[in-house]
Amino acid sequence: MAKRSQKQEIFNSRNYFILAAIGSAVGLGNIWRFPYVAFKNGGGAFILPYLVALLAAGIPLLFFDYALGHRYRGSAPLVLRRMGKWTEALGWWQVMVCVTIAIYYAAVVAWAGSYTVFSFNQAWGDDPAKFLMNDFLHVAETPGVGFDFVPSLVGPMLIVWSVVLVTIALGVNKGLAFANLVFMPLLVIMFVVLVLQALFLPGAAEGLNALFTPNWSALGDPGVWSAAFGQIFFSLSVGFGIMLTYASYLKRRTDLTGSGLVVGFSNSGFELLAGIGVFAALGFMASQAGASVDQVAGGGITLAFVAFPTIISQAPFGALMGVLFFGSLTVAGITSMLSILEVIVAAVRDKVHIAKPIATLIIGIQMAIDSISLLSTRTGLYFLDITDEFVNKYGILAGALACIVAVAWIVRKLPVLKRHLNRFSSFPAGTIWLVMVGVLAPVVLGYMLITDLLEKLRKPYEDYPLHLLNVYGWGMSLSLVVAGVLLTFIPWRRAIKTDFDEYHNEHEVSA
Ligand code: PHE
Repeated sequence: MAKRSQKQEIFNSRNYFILAAIGSAVGLGNIWRFPYVAFKNGGGAFILPYLVALLAAGIPLLFFDYALGHRYRGSAPLVLRRMGKWTEALGWWQVMVCVTIAIYYAAVVAWAGSYTVFSFNQAWGDDPAKFLMNDFLHVAETPGVGFDFVPSLVGPMLIVWSVVLVTIALGVNKGLAFANLVFMPLLVIMFVVLVLQALFLPGAAEGLNALFTPNWSALGDPGVWSAAFGQIFFSLSVGFGIMLTYASYLKRRTDLTGSGLVVGFSNSGFELLAGIGVFAALGFMASQAGASVDQVAGGGITLAFVAFPTIISQAPFGALMGVLFFGSLTVAGITSMLSILEVIVAAVRDKVHIAKPIATLIIGIQMAIDSISLLSTRTGLYFLDITDEFVNKYGILAGALACIVAVAWIVRKLPVLKRHLNRFSSFPAGTIWLVMVGVLAPVVLGYMLITDLLEKLRKPYEDYPLHLLNVYGWGMSLSLVVAGVLLTFIPWRRAIKTDFDEYHNEHEVSA
């Protein structure tokens, strides 16, 4: 027993887990994705599909991930290997999705970090769009694949990678939990002050009206429902190994569902807060430009790196606002980035059985090199844009669908997981949970994937040249699956079945 607990990392407290899980969930998706998705898809009326998606799919799948990781004690590939021989590949697929996301996510975090510094003197001058594309990223005119370096982007990325890798190497308590203990309160304070500041700007009310005025007819549009589910899946970090890995570090007697509810609602609360802050600021921007909110609203890179700099330059106490906004993006991004790296390191450690610092170093250095050489280039932005879109759809969503179908319908472990959830949890997972995970989630995911696929086949994504989409989009998506299968051929250097059986036999008796 003692020996095993040395091997298996365990969070010292459930609160560490909850904090780390919220840290993972609250990321760029909350700050720059949610406000715009809500605005585009019915405004105030979007709350309805959003809540349905949260309750019917988000939280049930959070429980699903927790149950998998906690019952089968391991990283995604190990957990899925313990369920069946061939299912292991699905675990590696999720790991490969994480590798891909980490590669570009690090760049966005690094840019946000740079912009935190730029905020002090508004280094972007009076044309933030030009500054971003020409002076900062030096984006190539024509989209393409290239290795034309932009040396000034390397430093910030190196810092991000170093912080993340050192934290992971320190282990789940001294590294991961500690970082979240510092960063999450910091994030909440910065963000609340930011939202308050935004609310006092002239025009803020216009922004909020634009965001919250309900367009009820949107509820009849299946695209709006799809957007709500898509937002929830990404935002809660479900289905790509993260929550599963974190749950494997929980003590045996843990209230899993209770924790899940806290994480789910905290994440959505933060999302709503971000919606309010971002749209208050956009209302101000519109009033300054004499335009409608509709004309200035946007999401993603342009919202963060073009609209916000404009707002910061015009707002009273702009420098403070800039530090708060970009500081929040950086901190929220780092805690999400940590979670994604933990998935990868845990999986490799499980498979080849090496010490955590060594595993982190080997994988981390390799990934940092890939990340920097792909993103610190004049074509990095194109890589990011295409890869992000495709990995979200054909990585996260498709991988989650495959995993759910395999667990629910092929190895048929949902009842076991349900029993596991109910052993120590406060909130019961009933038959309705089985239906939501086993039937509703696959149907919704399947629908989303098929409609998206048809759309992409009809019209190339963002009209990028086909060769680029074939490499960074379709090719990348497919290679993640292939890599997932190939990685199963590396032999396990640890017992797969034995510890697991021993573990449960031991505890089954005392339960
Ligand atoms: N939930 C995260 C977000 O909102 C998604 C994510 C997690 C992305 C981990 C990358 C890494 O940004």
